[in-house]
Amino acid sequence: MTEPALLADIIAHRGASGDAPENTLSAIVLAHKAGARCVELDASISSDGIAFIHHDDTLERCTNARGYLCAHTADELDKVKSSAGMAAYKDEPLPRLSAAVALLSELQMGLNLEIKPTPGLEAPTALAVCDVIRKQWPADLALVLSSFSKESLAVARDSLPGAARALIVCAVPDDWQHQTQLLQCRNLHMAAPLLDAQKAQAITEAGLGLYCFTVNDSDEAKKVLAMGAHGVFTDYPEKLLNAMQS
Ligand code: G3P
Ligand code: MG
Repeated sequence: MTEPALLADIIAHRGASGDAPENTLSAIVLAHKAGARCVELDASISSDGIAFIHHDDTLERCTNARGYLCAHTADELDKVKSSAGMAAYKDEPLPRLSAAVALLSELQMGLNLEIKPTPGLEAPTALAVCDVIRKQWPADLALVLSSFSKESLAVARDSLPGAARALIVCAVPDDWQHQTQLLQCRNLHMAAPLLDAQKAQAITEAGLGLYCFTVNDSDEAKKVLAMGAHGVFTDYPEKLLNAMQS
């Protein structure tokens, strides 16, 4: 039986993304100021194989650039601004994974890094992520590599077996136990509205860590945690952390 890879009960989803541009260094700093001990970030790769922190395949929604992130070189992406239209963050860079890891290390925060490959780049994205983590991640801080992509998780398992992994799903598939065993995952991360008490019990009794996304309502967070989830991902860590204390 596996041990859950524990992160925190309240995890800042894409950083404190409700109040700062998502997946940026400022969103990490804001999460830290809010008292969060852990962030979730998404990673994909440039055309020359460098890992960047970004959610979408394309750059339009969150940055001042256009097209596929994976079509740009790292040097080009270093010039991109990631303000998501928020004037106070107009000079916010699109961060390399290495910069985010250096900041988390300085702030002593844990990380759930979601490997988010553009279709077709499942293996190189996982390898680029593992390379940065191998070189930079401090052993004393919590870390989980997660993905919806089973191919990326299999590559991460073989490339960096010591790093904890999580399979991400929306609804829990019938073969969740087989899949998590095959990929040697310690956690299952899933959509909060699709959790029920019976599923929570089965997953946690199997020895898996259970984390649910994306929970921005305090009462929903309390309900999900009461069902047995180990934590929730939220865009508003300050609000949920305050609610947990009341
Ligand atoms: O890692 C949990 C959650 O972030 C997965 O969905 O689309 O927000 O990356 P998404
Ligand atoms: Mg994510």
